[in-house]
Order: sequence, then C-alpha cells, then structure tokens
Amino acid sequence: MYKIAVFVSGRGSNLKSILDSFPQDENEVKVVCVVSDKIDCPAFETAHQNNIKTYSISNVNKEYYLVYSELISILDNLKVDLIVLAGYLKKIPDELIEQYEKRIINIHPALLPSFGGKGMYGSNVHKAVFEKSVQVSGATIHFVDKIYDNGKIIAQQSVNIGNVNTPKDIAERVLKIEHQLLPFVIKKFSMNKVVERNNRVYLLN
Ligand code: GAR
Repeated sequence: MYKIAVFVSGRGSNLKSILDSFPQDENEVKVVCVVSDKIDCPAFETAHQNNIKTYSISNVNKEYYLVYSELISILDNLKVDLIVLAGYLKKIPDELIEQYEKRIINIHPALLPSFGGKGMYGSNVHKAVFEKSVQVSGATIHFVDKIYDNGKIIAQQSVNIGNVNTPKDIAERVLKIEHQLLPFVIKKFSMNKVVERNNRVYLLN
C-alpha cells in the first residue's frame, strides 16, 4: 500500500479527485491524513466524510494547532511515502523539506516556470495569465524544494485558452486538467515509475 498525506488550504477539489481515483478500501493509494494551515479548512469536510484524520499546523505555538516538529513525528509514525500539496498555500518549512526530500510534490495551476513564485496562487495566477493575454495555460506538478515553485518539473499538461473571456474561465479549464494530472502522477509514484536521470524527471510506462 502506498501512503500519502495531502496538504490543503481551500475547498479541496484536488483532494476529492484523489479520493475518487483511489477508492480507500482498495488499499492501492491510501490518504493517511489531511493537513491544513487552517483549523476550519473546507477540504476537511471531504476528509471527514472519508474517515481520514485531519491536522492543522502553524509555525508558532497556537491552541489546536500542531507545530511542524510534531507533524513530522506524526507523518513518520504513519510511514508516509509521499506528501502531496493540493492547493496548500503556505511555505513548507526547511525542516520538513529536508526530512522528506524528493517526497513532496505540488500542483500549480499554470505552466511553470512562468506564473510561479511567492504570491502566485489560486486566482492570482489565472488573473496574471489572463492579463498577459497568454494563449495556452495548464497545470504543473513539481518537486518541492526550499524556493517557491522551483523544484524539478514532474508533469505538465496544457490547455488552449485563446477564446476565454475571464480569469475564471481559465481557472475552470485548468482545474479540469489538474483533476486528471494529479492522480496520474500519484499513481506513477506508487508504482515507482518516477525516475530522475540526465538531470530530468521521467515518468516510465
Ligand atoms: C488549485 O487550482 C491548485 O492548483 C492551486 O490552488 C487550487 C486549489 O483548489 N494551488 C496553487 O495555486 C499553489 N501555488 P482545490 O482546493 O479545489 O484543490
């Protein structure tokens, strides 16, 4: 069984797409916990409906929140294979990145290395893409390192946005892609089919 922890900050549609792709009673890919920077994250509802444990984390000591060192112990005890940032909007601290090197991935709603970096998340990304009159956007999945949206790219899928009228139209098209791409990549990880060579990442058949 391949164990993942999913980190969320918002509505959790990507979490839902993971759960829809991997029925939790089949023991193929198991979501062992869902983590958020918020106490009342909307995505927690999906987690609770599926009997998945949820945790809230903070950089500072706060009631009802874990600090990162506590979270790391929990992830270690759960024997998490992969951490999936699915709409998680806070920076991951270095201690977690060092502990889970090459085992944290993020989904970004644009074609990196364009439209990434600090402040580039959610609707901000689609607004910037719209305002540049970019004609093609898409989703990117990449390894997480110590710099925002900087890690090696694992998978990308593009979509034509030539005829959109609003940033919201872009968001809708990109989200559809995200819901396919993220489970696809997680499956490749679970089958040990993500390899690095020639300084690039390859997804094996
Ligand atoms: C998704 O579009 C995801 O790509 C984006 O947040 C949204 C979360 O939606 N992530 C980022 O912008 C990270 N930089 P969801 O909560 O419905 O999965």
